[in-house]
Amino acid sequence: MKIFDTHAHYDDKQFDNDRDTLLSQCMEEGIGTIVNIGASIETSKNTLQLIDKYPFMYGAVGVHPSETKDLTETDMEWLKQVSTHEKVVAIGEIGLDYYWDEPDREIQKHWFVRQLDIAKEVDLPVVIHSRDAAKDTLDIMKREKAEKVGGVIHCYSYHVELAKEYIKMGFYLGIGGVVTFNNGKKLKEVVEEIPLEHLVLETDCPYLAPVPNRGKRNHSLNLTYVVEEISRLKNISKEEVIAVTTENAKELYRL
Ligand code: NI
Repeated sequence: MKIFDTHAHYDDKQFDNDRDTLLSQCMEEGIGTIVNIGASIETSKNTLQLIDKYPFMYGAVGVHPSETKDLTETDMEWLKQVSTHEKVVAIGEIGLDYYWDEPDREIQKHWFVRQLDIAKEVDLPVVIHSRDAAKDTLDIMKREKAEKVGGVIHCYSYHVELAKEYIKMGFYLGIGGVVTFNNGKKLKEVVEEIPLEHLVLETDCPYLAPVPNRGKRNHSLNLTYVVEEISRLKNISKEEVIAVTTENAKELYRL
């Protein structure tokens, strides 16, 4: 079984010099599928180009909360239209980010709700970005009945109790490099407590490389360190971690 990277940003400039060779290496060394995630209108367009080029790559289109300032309803029409592309498998990443706290929270909430609307209209799962905004994110998802489409809480960063709320709604939790960090204790607890059936692997590359490559440019091959840490925390084999999370990812993106 091969590893499924559920959240990557291979359109990032940091991959401009070696994108083709790096991705071929990933395919040769145990990575099976990658979902490239849009975080703005521009990077959603980039994502569409990448998924047309690479057979092993699927895409999500959507606008990250920090990029919502200048959004218009015309952009929503465009999102809705491109989401019908056969290799677009989700709307995202969308959500709330109160760490950067910009633009204004009301603006972030407005476009979060609008993009949830689109996901429901086109019936695609959502990729949720939520940072320092636990309560508002869950409130909005419940009020808007996000469980109708399901999806993933990307780079899950909250505590175990909230994790249980999300999995009750049918959402998966995205686990990446942070689980290997010395200061990743909270996430290690989540991985110990939550059954593997609710977890998926993600890089969020080029960001959040796991130990021992923390701080360097991240890429999908580094997921082997995340697999190792999950297998250690749950006391199961690496093969099982890969097999189950890959099945989960296929279920998540309906592949
Ligand atoms: Ni991301």
